[in-house]
Amino acid sequence: MLLRDAHNRIIRDLRVSLTDRCNFRCFYCLPHGEPPLARKETILTFEEIVEICEIFVSLGIEKIRLTGGEPLLRKDIEVLVEKLARLKAQVSRFEVQSSETENPKSKTQNPKLVDLALTTNGFSLKERAENLKNAGLDRVTISLDSLKRKNFQRITGVDKLQETLEAIEAAKKARLTPIKINAVVVRGYNDDEVLDFVCFAREQNISMRFIEFMPLGAGHDWDRNSVVSGREIFAKINRVFPLQLKEKSRGAETAWKYRFVDGARGEIGIVAPVTEMFCGACSRIRLTADGQIRTCLFSTTEHNLRDVLRSNSTRPEIVEFIKDVVMKKEARHKINDANFMQPVRTMSFIGG
Ligand code: GTP
Ligand code: 5AD
Ligand code: SF4
Repeated sequence: MLLRDAHNRIIRDLRVSLTDRCNFRCFYCLPHGEPPLARKETILTFEEIVEICEIFVSLGIEKIRLTGGEPLLRKDIEVLVEKLARLKAQVSRFEVQSSETENPKSKTQNPKLVDLALTTNGFSLKERAENLKNAGLDRVTISLDSLKRKNFQRITGVDKLQETLEAIEAAKKARLTPIKINAVVVRGYNDDEVLDFVCFAREQNISMRFIEFMPLGAGHDWDRNSVVSGREIFAKINRVFPLQLKEKSRGAETAWKYRFVDGARGEIGIVAPVTEMFCGACSRIRLTADGQIRTCLFSTTEHNLRDVLRSNSTRPEIVEFIKDVVMKKEARHKINDANFMQPVRTMSFIGG
């Protein structure tokens, strides 16, 4: 049994936010350190998260990404990672109709987790990378919006460039690979650093991903002029370091991926949700720290899985709830529509 929505998209990718707290103050996300929305008793426990993930995996989810806020702020997440990593070996108890025929790329006949990743700002990763790897984490994506100390501080509100660079080193050493670096490109803030980032990717042999700025911040300070389009980013790079598309189709992925024509190491990814919407192939669903399912980054309604779980529902009832929710997944975002409404919850809660 696979999760399929009303637009015939199969859901393979679950993003789990572990906390809406963050210790950075990125101007495009949580500029004033807005207080966390979720109360302690509403936050899912590790046991609940594992139970939910296990059900999702039995329904065909292959990728789980742990996000936040800053997920490493959640105490003992190594323990959670270890429990989730077991889903990579687990054959689900839930009835399955051949997933192989539905997704030829699927590596297994029986559902199991294939990829366990984490998105972090790098805070405390240096000390924890090795343990996370040993617990079963496959890879990390690290946010890095500037390579200049002053500008890093201007964008993130904290003076932590050095720590973030050390986090990348530690992730490499711990083989949390492939390592991806996310930079949200915002005009007037870091668009002049694109080529510096490219050199960084080549030197460090990592995947550098440039992301268009989306309207998801608590400050509601998004405007179209601040968006640097994927096309503009590509042109900027391609003029100096010619790029070659790695694959003609990007499947359900967010990024167009490029290699360097000159054979240098490293990879460039361009994520352009605003100017080149990729919703038609979306395979993602999200779970907030307080147990709400969000069927889209831009959903204006949420579905309370926590209450279903806490009301002693049977497993078939929970599965039925999830299947119904998936059917309601939005066809696309409406950033470019005249009547666009930004969701109440910000990226710090939804987790990217
Ligand atoms: P992998 O390729 O598996 O590493 O995952 P990914 O490409 O989804 O990576 P990541 O979670 O780092 O996403 C990169 C960025 O793309 C996020 O930080 C978001 O800004 C944006 N993004 C991710 N998923 C979506 C989505 O479903 N819709 C939109 N509009 N943007 C998304
Ligand atoms: N637009 C695009 N990407 C964003 N992120 C956070 N806020 C935004 C936004 N408004 C990305 C960050 C981080 C990930 C969690 O989400 O780059 O890597
Ligand atoms: Fe999927 Fe919504 Fe993102 Fe579009 S905006 S890709 S539908 S999550």
